[in-house]
Amino acid sequence: MASESQASESHQPVIAILGGTGAQGSALALRWANAGYSIVIGSRSPQKATEVCKRISIEVENANVSYENNLVAAEKGDLVVLCVPYASQRSTVETVRAALDGKVLIDTTVPLIPPKVARVQLPDSGSAVAEIQSMLGDSVKVVSAFQNVAAHVLDDLSSTVDCDVLVCGNDIEARETVIKLAAAIGVPAIHAGSIANSTAAEALTSVLISINSRYKLRGAGIRITGMDEEK
Ligand SMILES: NC(=O)c1ccc[n+]([C@@H]2O[C@H](COP(=O)([O-])OP(=O)(O)OC[C@H]3O[C@@H](n4cnc5c(N)ncnc54)[C@H](OP(=O)(O)O)[C@@H]3O)[C@@H](O)[C@H]2O)c1
Repeated sequence: MASESQASESHQPVIAILGGTGAQGSALALRWANAGYSIVIGSRSPQKATEVCKRISIEVENANVSYENNLVAAEKGDLVVLCVPYASQRSTVETVRAALDGKVLIDTTVPLIPPKVARVQLPDSGSAVAEIQSMLGDSVKVVSAFQNVAAHVLDDLSSTVDCDVLVCGNDIEARETVIKLAAAIGVPAIHAGSIANSTAAEALTSVLISINSRYKLRGAGIRITGMDEEK
């Protein structure tokens, strides 16, 4: 199901999605493939990655989607998106570190610690994503995004994303790039300040999980009000 916005321009950046076989990564891959971007799924499992590529190719006519191990995917990506569980966030970044220099790394990680995922449990430093920026140094522009949108919402191309996502990062241009990439897949995204502010987005996910549980919902989200006053 290709949208009218499906682009054919060859200057579109290649998006590498590490953990692209998972719920969040495969849903983002589907949406960006549908918007005409070239996608490289990063995975430890050729079998799982083949299945994801097959599914995207069925849903999106002329999808440009392939897979590699995480390091080669990161090498091939102009932009790299990290979509692995918190427990493997740091080790996955270590694996691909050599390929990240000069790139934007979009980190979707929420520091959930099962089984109490409805309780905010941030690392001592405050933010899991800010820790990755500290680890990588300024040569990698880490941007935190997509923490507060549920995978199943993204995974349905016919569904409108009825929530905002907060985009945090120390480099304003890198944030703007991510906001445009989000807009290309129908996700309203908002500049939310420096990478330290990712703490708020990461914490909000547990709040939303708690709200989903209490009100028997699947996809509670947040909306920033007052944006229509933007000058
Ligand atoms: N699911 C959501 O609705 C949602 C919403 C907002 C943010 N997030 C965040 O997005 C990230 C991914 O969430 P998810 O639900 O997509 O996770 P997931 O489905 O559990 O896992 C994603 C992928 O990570 C890889 N992975 C798993 N364990 C790993 C390990 N030990 N080392 C390296 N790679 C490993 C696997 O890929 P391979 O086996 O193919 O390598 C897996 O398919 C998380 O940080 C989560 O907090 C998720």
